[in-house]
Amino acid sequence: MKIGNAYRFAPVLAAAIALSACNQSQQAANPADGAANTAVGAHQDAREDIMHDWGAASKEMNAMLKDPSSFNADNFRAAAKKLDQDAWVHFPAGSEGGDAKPEIWQNPTAWQQEIDKYKQAVAALNTAAQSATSAADVQAQFNDVGASCKSCHQQFREK
Ligand code: HEC
Repeated sequence: MKIGNAYRFAPVLAAAIALSACNQSQQAANPADGAANTAVGAHQDAREDIMHDWGAASKEMNAMLKDPSSFNADNFRAAAKKLDQDAWVHFPAGSEGGDAKPEIWQNPTAWQQEIDKYKQAVAALNTAAQSATSAADVQAQFNDVGASCKSCHQQFREK
C-alpha cells in the first residue's frame, strides 16, 4: 500500500466534500404542474436525498482517514456501503432541474462514463473495506471515489 501516494489526492476529496453543501433552493423553479411535475419532483428529491447520504458517508469516512487512530472497520464498511445506491435511475428524460445540468440529457455517453467510473470506484472501495484493518487499506480507493464525485460534479452539476 502506497501511503505517501494516497495523501496526494486529499485536496480532491476536500473539494468533493465542499461541493456537498446541500441546496434545495431551486426546487420551486419547476414550471410544470400536475402529475408530471409530481413525478419529476419525486425523482429530483430522491436523487438529492441519495447524494446527500453520500456526502454524509464520505465525511464520516474522511474523518477516519484523516485521523487513522479513529479508524473503525465496521463503521467504515457501513459508510462505504451507503455509496452503493442507484441514484442514476432518478435522472430519467424529462427530469431536468435542480442542480442537474442539461448536459446530462444532451450528452448521455459522457454521463454514462461518469456513472461507470463511479460504480467501479465504489465497488473497489467496498471490496477493500471488506478486509481493511486500517485507514491505509482503503485510502487509495477512497481517493478514487472522491475524484469520481468531483469529476462528475464539475461536468454535470451546477455550482
Ligand atoms: C455521475 C455523476 C455524479 C457522481 C459520480 C456523483 N454525483 Fe453528486 N450530484 C450529481 C448531480 C447531477 C447532482 C445535482 C442533482 C440535482 O440537483 O438534481 C448532484 C448533487 C449532489 C449533492 C447535493 C444534493 C442536494 O441535496 O441537493 C451532494 C451532497 C452530492 N452530489 C454528493 C456526491 C458525493 C459525495 C459523491 C461521491 C461519493 C457524488 N455526489 C457523486 C452528480 C454526481
